[in-house]
Amino acid sequence: MKINRLICSTMFVAGMATSVCGAQATADYNVAPQPRKIQLLSGAPASVTASTVIVCTKGDQTLLRTASFLAQYIEEATGLKLKITDKQQKSNSITLRVQSGEPESYTLTVGPKSVVIAGADQAGVFYGVQTLRKSISAATKGNTLLLPQVVVTDAPRFGYRGAHLDVSRHFFTPGEVKRFVDMLALHNINRFHWHLTDDQGWRIEIKKYPKLTTLGSVRTREQIGVDINGERERVFIDKSHGGFYTQDDIREVVAYAAERFVTVIPEIEMPGHARAALAAFPELSCCGGPFRVEGEWGVLEDIFCTREEVFTFLENILTEVVGLFPSKYIHIGGDEAPKLRWSRCHACQERIKALGLKDEHELQSWFVTRMEKFLATKGKRIIGWDEILEGGLAPDATVMSWRGVEGGVEAARLGHDAIMTPTDYMYFDYYQSENRVEEPVAIGGYVPLEKVYSYEPCPEELTAEQRRHIIGVQANLWTEYIADYPHVEYMSLPRMAALCELQWCGPEQKNYGEFLKRLQRLTAIYDLSGYNYRRHVAEAK
Ligand code: ACM
Ligand code: ZN
Repeated sequence: MKINRLICSTMFVAGMATSVCGAQATADYNVAPQPRKIQLLSGAPASVTASTVIVCTKGDQTLLRTASFLAQYIEEATGLKLKITDKQQKSNSITLRVQSGEPESYTLTVGPKSVVIAGADQAGVFYGVQTLRKSISAATKGNTLLLPQVVVTDAPRFGYRGAHLDVSRHFFTPGEVKRFVDMLALHNINRFHWHLTDDQGWRIEIKKYPKLTTLGSVRTREQIGVDINGERERVFIDKSHGGFYTQDDIREVVAYAAERFVTVIPEIEMPGHARAALAAFPELSCCGGPFRVEGEWGVLEDIFCTREEVFTFLENILTEVVGLFPSKYIHIGGDEAPKLRWSRCHACQERIKALGLKDEHELQSWFVTRMEKFLATKGKRIIGWDEILEGGLAPDATVMSWRGVEGGVEAARLGHDAIMTPTDYMYFDYYQSENRVEEPVAIGGYVPLEKVYSYEPCPEELTAEQRRHIIGVQANLWTEYIADYPHVEYMSLPRMAALCELQWCGPEQKNYGEFLKRLQRLTAIYDLSGYNYRRHVAEAK
């Protein structure tokens, strides 16, 4: 509960004597995601005023940056401009520090005179700062901020807390992508899965192959959404759509994300969803093209061939990609690759014979394993959509389970890591309301807020040992029907709030009714940040 009231008095709060005149707001630590433990202490609350300082360790640039985020959040919520110092100060201060403990965990302690946010690591400090930010989000400008004395101890459930954005079907500028990253950081999400290539546009500059972006990033027509009684009619408009990220743009986004403890995982699709690349290099298909960058959504028959030059091409691309993304994972796609062309291609059939493979599924498995081995030489591991299980899983692959949870279950049983992202719960391109007429046209489906919230990522059928392989959970935002950035925010919020609780909290901490109350402290930040969110949260079933 947040209290706003008008007072005009002098407060003596054990050492923090403060002259207060104006509205006053009290922090509430019940935020989303719900912290693991909140122990409220008796005694008068500490107050934060314009004279309070943020203290960080001398010479620690990362901590200093987190301190400046905190100063910015406090200013946004209250108007108070706090100074940052490296001179230790035991009262009238908010001290940030790194100690030891479980990765990404933190303790937020509010005593009578001061506040300490101690993280097990830098990320932990950042999440402690996010919790404080949310606790005060509904404060009124000009306030003295009252912080009830408390010890909050918190740590995440999953190490992989992901969100995906498709920038192929529609391109979003680097500035918009950074805004997306800000939104992830607010929700304690630490992995950004950037879907950079697909049939409808190649969006990453590759120096060795400029045609990928000069030709492969532009399409001239687009399927628009008309949904009549659930039946999609294919209607096209002539509309040029393009855009790509230069390598400098990529580096900028990666660095921006890293400052917010978000690791960017690039996805370079293979062997399917390759039409934009094949439009630029038709000779890398089985039948030679020509192709256009596609304006129709769906699954296309033409995929990369398995001739040797395809691997040279992909390895050259991945060499550049690896140099841009410090992430230990590279996502190689692997989904929705029809086998028709391979079944009729002389070169692919020769490959099957030469390798003694049973069929085209085993050929895809060989393809993926080959890419895995190549990336391993660069110190990287692969993630692939659950189709990579078909024909045999590459030895070190992590499976992203999207066609339900079965792929994740199978991977975990095989001793492989898995990330859960089933369509029925985690596809944020699906409708938020049962009444589609109320909503912007979407790809289909129905994933309301409560449904997202209800998802439990560790399937019951797994043993405790197998469950350890469920390393996390992610929501996906495909953008066939999302043509502008405000629409990205609309589809993400507030569902991302529900997502963050199931990524961060154990099932015992979850309670939908309480979550809806906690959500108000997040929507206060959505308002402060000007996010375009679905406002009728209360009715959101
Ligand atoms: C997918 O939705 N095709 C992974
Ligand atoms: Zn072929």
